[in-house]
Amino acid sequence: MKDLDGMKQLKRTKISEALQLKNFGEEINVKGWVRTRRGNKNVSFVALNDGSIIHNLQIVIDIEKFGEEYLKPISTGASISVNGTLVESRGKGQSVEIQANEIEIFGGADPLSYPLQKKGHSMEFLREIAHLRPRTNTFSAVYRMRHHMSYAIHKYFNDRGFFYFHTPIITASDAEGAGSMFEVTTLNLNDVPKTKEGEVDFSKDFFSRQTNLTVSGQLEGEMGAMALGSIYTFGPTFRAENSNTPRHLAEFWMIEPEVAFSDNNDNMDLAEDFLKYLINYALENCKEDLDFLNQMIDKNLLERLHFVVDNDFIRLSYTEGVKILEESGEKFEYPVYWGADLHSEHERYLVEKHFKRPVILNDYPVEIKSFYMKQNEDNKTVRAMDVLFPKIGEIIGGSERECDYDKLKKRVEDTGMNADPIWWYLESRKFGTAPHAGFGLGFERLILFVTGMTNIRDVIPFPRTPNNAEF
Ligand code: 4AD
Ligand code: MG
Repeated sequence: MKDLDGMKQLKRTKISEALQLKNFGEEINVKGWVRTRRGNKNVSFVALNDGSIIHNLQIVIDIEKFGEEYLKPISTGASISVNGTLVESRGKGQSVEIQANEIEIFGGADPLSYPLQKKGHSMEFLREIAHLRPRTNTFSAVYRMRHHMSYAIHKYFNDRGFFYFHTPIITASDAEGAGSMFEVTTLNLNDVPKTKEGEVDFSKDFFSRQTNLTVSGQLEGEMGAMALGSIYTFGPTFRAENSNTPRHLAEFWMIEPEVAFSDNNDNMDLAEDFLKYLINYALENCKEDLDFLNQMIDKNLLERLHFVVDNDFIRLSYTEGVKILEESGEKFEYPVYWGADLHSEHERYLVEKHFKRPVILNDYPVEIKSFYMKQNEDNKTVRAMDVLFPKIGEIIGGSERECDYDKLKKRVEDTGMNADPIWWYLESRKFGTAPHAGFGLGFERLILFVTGMTNIRDVIPFPRTPNNAEF
C-alpha cells in the first residue's frame, strides 16, 4: 500500500483544461467533487467534476494500490485531490482519463445524508437546498451561463463606447412610481420616533430621510447619460411586489443603458441589437453548457436561440397589438381592451401564436406607464417600448424620456407623486436638457431565455421571493 502522507506537489490542472491535454504518460493533479463512483472490487471509476466545465474527468483507481478502507469516503459528493497519469481513454464520450497514483481526500459526503446522492431531483426540491444545488449539472451550467452573459454585457457596451455608471442601491426616490419598495432604516422598530403629527419621524433615521432599496437605477443613470453621453448600469434591483410568478423576483439584476441624443427608434434598434448580440455570444461561447441544457432541459432551446438571432423583431404599436388580441377570438384570463395593462398571456399570444417572432410593442397609453416617459402629440400615448420574447413575455422595458421640464413636472403632479425627492431629476431638464432614451433588461429573464429554464427561482443562485430568504 502507498504511503499517502505528503502527496507530490503538482500544480492543479482544471478539468476543462485536462480534457484537452494530449501529453499522455505525464502526471497531473486535479481536484474536484465526486459525481459518481462505480466499478468492481479491483478497480473504481470516479467521475470527477470541478465546476470548470459541464464534463467530468474519469479517474481510474486501482483499489489494491490504496486499500479498500482508505478509499471508502470516496462517494458521490466527496472532495478529493488526485495525482495521476494522463492516459487516452478507451471509454466512449471522453478523450482522456487519469490513472490515480496518489489521492488525498479533503472531505467525504455521507451517502446516507448527502441530499444529492441520487440524480433526478425535482426543481422544487433543489430550491430547498439552494446551498448545494450548484453541485448539480443543471445549476452549474446555469450559473456559468450567468457569468458568460454578464461578461458579454460589459463587452457589448465597452466595445461601443458606453461607460459603466454605478447608481446607488439605497435611494430616496421611487423611480417607477409603483410604490413597491423595501424600506431601509436603522430606526428601532419597537420604538419608532414620531413627529407631533404622529407620523414616523424620519429626520431621526440614518439618512435623516425616508430611504428604500432601489427599484431601478434609471433616474440616476439619466444623470450619467446627460454628461457622459452613453452609459449603462448593471446592478441589483428590489421590488416588494407580492407577485408569486415564475418570472418575478423580489431581488433581481437589471441592465439599464441610457443614451443622450437618441429617440425611441434608436432605443428599439439598440435593444434588438443588444439581445441578438448576447444570444449569439451564448451560442458561440457556451456551447457545452447549451448542448447539455438543450438535451436535458429544453429540446427546442438551440433552435429558439438561432431563430431569435436570425430574424428581425416585429415592431408595432400597442394600439395595433390590442386590436390583434381583441380580434384573436382567444379566451384570456385577463380582459384585453385599449388602455389595459398587458399580461404575460397577451404578450405571449402575440409572440408565440400570432407573429411567431419577438415583438417590440411601442406607444403605450400614458396611464399605464411611468411618469418619465416622453409624451406623444396625441396626448394619449407615450414613447415607451417593451420587447416581448417567446416563453418569457416582457424581457425589456424602456422609453424615450420626457425632456421638457414643464411637461415632466405636470406629469409628476398629475400622477400624485411627491416631487421633493426627485427635485434633482427635474432639474436635469432645466439645465442643458436633451432628448435621450434608455431601457432595462431583466438579467434573470435573459438567463431564463438562454438556458430554457422555466422558473426564475432557478436561474439565480439564492432567489428572493415572498416568504423566501433562507439562504
Ligand atoms: O419594465 P421595468 O419595470 O422598467 C424599468 O425599471 C425602467 N426603469 C427601465 C429603464 O427604462 N431604464 O423593468 C425592466 C425589466 C423588465 O422588462 C423585466 O425584464 C425586468 O426588468 N423585471 C423583473 N425581473 C425579475 N423580477 C421582477 N420582479 C422584475 N420586474 C422587472
Ligand atoms: Mg415593464
